This record gives sequence, structure tokens and C-alpha cells, in this order.
Amino acid sequence: MAATNIETWQSATVKQVVPVADGIARIVLEPSLPLKAEPGSHVDLMVKIDGEPAKRSYSVVESNHDGTRLVISVMKAPLSRGGSIFMHGLVPGQRLEITQPLQNFPLRVGARRYILLAGGIGITAIANMAAVLKRLKADYTLVYVGRSRSAMAYLKKLSELHGERLEVHVDDEGSSLGVPALVDRADADTELYMCGPIRLMDAVRRSWVGRELDLPNLRYETFGNSGWYDPEEFIVRVPKLNLEVKVPQGRSMLEALEDAGAEMMFDCRKGECGLCEVRITELSGAIDHRDVFYSERQQRQGTKMNCCVSRAVTSPTGSRSDAGAGPAVITIEPN
Ligand code: FES
Repeated sequence: MAATNIETWQSATVKQVVPVADGIARIVLEPSLPLKAEPGSHVDLMVKIDGEPAKRSYSVVESNHDGTRLVISVMKAPLSRGGSIFMHGLVPGQRLEITQPLQNFPLRVGARRYILLAGGIGITAIANMAAVLKRLKADYTLVYVGRSRSAMAYLKKLSELHGERLEVHVDDEGSSLGVPALVDRADADTELYMCGPIRLMDAVRRSWVGRELDLPNLRYETFGNSGWYDPEEFIVRVPKLNLEVKVPQGRSMLEALEDAGAEMMFDCRKGECGLCEVRITELSGAIDHRDVFYSERQQRQGTKMNCCVSRAVTSPTGSRSDAGAGPAVITIEPN
């Protein structure tokens, strides 16, 4: 059996935790109910934040043929809500609660050509796909984009495995990726799979749409945690529930509302499914839409947001006339 979308929880033993790039740890897990992890699959696992359990999702970077060994990689986020700090503190022998591999970013085998695009830690969702395409002798290019080489996990290994099929763009070497040029290389027979920061994925999506390429051939995975602006503390008001809640920098609006006792609907918690949508009735500030669920037009309308990832900010430019008057304030009606 291979990865599904049915959540089956199990225990897993941590076998190894080693650094693989600046702030990125490779974590090897031995699950008690092994299941083969197909390319694009991830596991959900329970972390502890301030002693409280919380669910996090991590792509499976590698697994062996029967799934008895799963490898994930975790970046210590500078503004971590606590999950990545917990993960970096794991030691061999420790037990975790994890799901069997789950699949919502499947690789479709049989396309004429593939472009795989990974930005930063997004390589964790893409590396396994590239390895499979290499084994299948498919026509693929793996494009790996990063800030600096020292922050790019698995670079040497990928270069050994993929040779000339690997194309590396490094910002601090002045070789940043030109998105329109990349998308120009795609034709009607090309499928593009990507995972990385929202700005990169948004730029690709715009170019893809601009070239009128088939949208089903553009596939992506999002971590739901990178935005257009740095996260700020803001206030959310829910008159229907008589609530006014402070959303700190390191927590999502969804989490803050749950903490305050609101019963919220959600599924992916990654800005993909739209289930956590709330209606915006008043806003002082602007919305930092971090989802990949809404179209650009829907995001511009500013009447709703996915509260698992999107946030309010005082001003997109930092130049709000009443900047300094306090945090952004958003009034919503919950789902
Ligand atoms: S829970 Fe899926 S978009 Fe928020």
C-alpha cells in the first residue's frame, strides 16, 4: 500500500537528527506502521509548544521501498511558532506521534517534460519527485533556488544525482531565477511542480496564466507560512462571539481564535483548502494573503481571508498615515 489521504496515526522513533544546511535539520524516523511514501507525500506529526500538543506537516524527503525509514527536514524558522524549535530539539530514541504518509501533491507519471521548481526548504517536497523521475528516465529539469548555498539543503547530493538536470540559482551569487524565462521554457506538454515561498509561487502562477498554459499542468505544495510581509501582532474582533483576540507574531489567527474558545472550521491549515475562510467586515490596516486558494482577484477584493495562514498588517508599505497608532485591527464573521 502507498500514501493515501486517510489519516492513520502511529508512533515513530527518531533515529537520527543531523544538520544539512544553515538552520535545517535532517530527521530520520522509524514508523511503527510503515507505509511507502510516494513522491510529494508528507506526514503530519504532533509537536509540543509550551507543553501543548500542536500538529505540523513535513514533506517526506526520502523513504525506503517499504516505508520503514522516513526522512524529513525541518528549517528552524526565525519567527517559529515553536514547532520547528521542538523538532530541532529531538534526540535519537525519542518517540513521536505521526501519521502514515499522506498524499496531496502527487506526481503524475507519463508527462512529456517536467520542470521541478524548489525554493529554499521547498526542496523537501520536490527532491523525492526528482529522484523518481531520474529512475524513470523522464525528461526533467530540477530548478533549485536559494538565498545562499549554505542555506540550501542537499545541494551536493542533488548535484551528484542529477548532474546537468539540476539548475541552481543563488541570490547572493547574483544568479537569481528569472521566472518569466523559466515559464517560457514550458510548453503544452510540460508539467511544472513547485514548492517554495509564496512570492516565488505567485510569480510562477502569474507567468503561467499569462502564457495561457493549462492550469492543471501547474502543481504546487505550500507550507502556508511565508507571506508578502513580515508577520506582525494584530487584533481580531468577532462581534458575533463577543471576542477580541490578540494574534501574536508567532501564532496564526486560526490558532489565536481557537485559544480563545472559538469553534473554527479548518482542514489543511496550509492555505490550500479554503475551509477556514472568514468574512472581513472591517479592517484597519491591510491583509497579507498567504493562501494559494483564492485567485488574485478574490484576494484584491479583500472581503474574505483564510485565517489559518493569512494575517493583518498595519500597512503593506509600512507607511500607513496612522502608523504608530497601534496594531492592525480586523473585524470578522467566522465560518
Ligand atoms: S484550513 Fe485550509 S485554507 Fe485554512
